[in-house]
Formats: sequence, C-alpha cells, structure tokens
Amino acid sequence: MVNGPRSVFVERGGKLEATDIHFNNDQHLLNIIDRIVSTVGRRIDESSPMVDARLKDGSRVNAIIPPLALDGPSMSIRRFAIERLDMQGLVDLGSMPEELVPVFEGIVKARLNVLISGGTGSGKTTLLNILSGYIPKDERIVTIEDSAELQLQQPHTVRLETRPPNVEGKGKSVSGNWYVTVCGCARTGS
Ligand SMILES: Nc1ncnc2c1ncn2[C@@H]1O[C@H](COP(=O)(O)OP(=O)(O)OP(=O)(O)O)[C@@H](O)[C@H]1O
Ligand SMILES: [Mg+2]
Repeated sequence: MVNGPRSVFVERGGKLEATDIHFNNDQHLLNIIDRIVSTVGRRIDESSPMVDARLKDGSRVNAIIPPLALDGPSMSIRRFAIERLDMQGLVDLGSMPEELVPVFEGIVKARLNVLISGGTGSGKTTLLNILSGYIPKDERIVTIEDSAELQLQQPHTVRLETRPPNVEGKGKSVSGNWYVTVCGCARTGS
C-alpha cells in the first residue's frame, strides 16, 4: 500500500507494517503507477484519476492520483493468495462451524440467491470460491467481475470482466461487484 512517495506499507499475516521503501517524489511515484497500469492497457491521468485493474499475475491494483487524491498519488496492490483454502481449511481455522458445511452445500445446490459481504480482505472471495465448488459440473456458469479473481473449477464457465469507458466516454460495460449466475439464478456478492 503506497500512501504517497514516503509512506509504503505491506500486510503480512493480516497485520500492516510500515516499510522503509521510498519513492523520490510524487512524479517518480506517478511514473511508476503509469507504467504499471499501462502494461495492462489502462490509463491514468487528470481526467481519469482512478484505476482498478488486474495485473498479469492476477494481483489487483488500485491507483488514485490528484485531483482525486489530495496528498499525491496513492496505490495498493492486492496479491493472490498462494495457498487456496478449502471448506475443511475454513473448519480447521475455526471460521466455519462444521455443522454449517452441509447447510452451505445445500444452499448452493438448491440454487438459492446468496450475498457475501464484508470488509476488505475479510475472505469474501475465498468463501465464494469454496461455495462455487458445490455448483454441479453440468451447470453453465457466467461470472461478471470488476477485476476477475474467481477460480471456478467447473468446465462450463464463461468469465466476463467489467470495462471502463474509453477517452470519449464510450464502451463502459457493466459495473458493480461480482455476480455468479447459474442458468439465470443470480448469486451476487461484493
Ligand atoms: N477464514 C479465513 N481464515 C484465515 N485466512 C483467510 C480466511 N479466509 C480468507 N483468508 C485469507 O485472507 C486473505 C483475503 O481473502 P479474500 O481475498 O478472500 O478476501 P476478500 O474479502 O475477497 O478481499 P477483497 O475485499 O480484497 O476482495 C487471503 O490471503 C485468504 O487466503
Ligand atoms: Mg475479493
């Protein structure tokens, strides 16, 4: 997390730590941000001062620059978890009561609508990925995400990602958070 050229934090084991990494100045940081977002075909400038994008390795980057960011450019990069949790992992961690596992399985198999909400980094995508494992393999799944991060195991999947408008303000696609739709039955989350 870069809050400005002289304020860089990293999160390790769920805790934020200040680092001694510094950029030379706002312009240096801005150049780095510009380089990062342009590698994935996005742009950031005064007329479009915020970018949410997915990098080639799957990490998600968010950058905001002036005039929206008052104290200079800021950026965060959220990396993908290397080890994927499964339902047994959630039970072992004490996050999921064992007796609720079949309830969640039933909720997905009965195609009920599910809303998963929570703070940043609270485990929403992890839970959704795990729950998606209960969707039968013969269903057709369509996903719509702001920046794609779901890792569905089923073969019959169409993945869509939102798109910001171009310089003329055209071409904007669906926005919002993500939706997993199974044959017209929407499961939504944030
Ligand atoms: N129940 C849990 N116990 C411990 N760690 C967890 C748990 N669930 C998820 N995590 C870990 O926490 C991190 C964040 O999880 P995840 O990406 O699912 O959160 P999120 O709510 O989708 O975040 P964001 O708001 O950034 O989209 C990951 O490294 C994940 O492996
Ligand atoms: Mg998420």
